[in-house]
Amino acid sequence: MAIVGVVATAVWVMLPAYIPNNVAVVAGGGRPIDGGRTWRNDRLLGDGKTWRGTGVGIAAGVIMAAALNFLEPAMSARFGLSVPSFPLLASLALPFGAMLGDIGASFVKRRTGRARGAPFPVVDQLDFAVGALLVTGLVLPEWFLATFTPPVLLAVIVLTPVLHVSTNAVGYVIGVKQEPY
Ligand code: CTP
Ligand code: MG
Repeated sequence: MAIVGVVATAVWVMLPAYIPNNVAVVAGGGRPIDGGRTWRNDRLLGDGKTWRGTGVGIAAGVIMAAALNFLEPAMSARFGLSVPSFPLLASLALPFGAMLGDIGASFVKRRTGRARGAPFPVVDQLDFAVGALLVTGLVLPEWFLATFTPPVLLAVIVLTPVLHVSTNAVGYVIGVKQEPY
C-alpha cells in the first residue's frame, strides 16, 4: 500500500476514536464519574471525567463511524482509496476504548499527584488511541488484524500525537479548551 493509502487508512479508521475526546471537551460537565470519591486523599478520577462528556463523546464516535461507512464507497470510487468500513462492534469499541483509555490515564494521573488538567506528556497524547486499539483488538481480533496492519499501526502511533496536539491548540485558541495540550 502506498504511503497515501496507509495514512488515509490510519486517519479514517481512528476517526471514531479521535472524535470522543474532542466532543467531551465541549459536551462535558455535570456529575463526575467518580461521584467525588477519593482514594488516599486524591480524587479517584477528578472533575474532568464526567458521565455526560463520556456518553456524548462515545455517541459522537458511533455517529462518526456510521458517517464514514456511508462515505466509504465514494472514497474508492472517487479517490481510488480503499478505506475500511466499520462493523457495528468496531463502531462501538473504538470510541468506548478511547474514552476508557482517557479515563484510565486520569486514574494514573491522580495516583501520581497530578492535579486535574496537569500535563502528562506522551500519556495525554496516546491514552485514547491505546485504549481504542486494545478494546477493539479484544472484541474484534480478526477485523483488528486485517485493518491495523503494521504500517497502519505505525502511522497511527506517529500521527495521533501530531493530530492531538494540533486540535487541542485550536481548541485552546477558540476558547473551548482550558489548556493548550
Ligand atoms: N471531559 C468529560 N468527560 C470525559 C473526558 C473529558 O467531561 N470523559 C471534559 C471535561 O470537562 C474535561 C475536558 O473535557 O475537563 C478536557 O478533557 P481532559 O483534558 O481529558 O481532562 P482534564 O480536565 O485535563 O482532566 P485530567 O487531568 O483528568 O485529564
Ligand atoms: Mg487535559
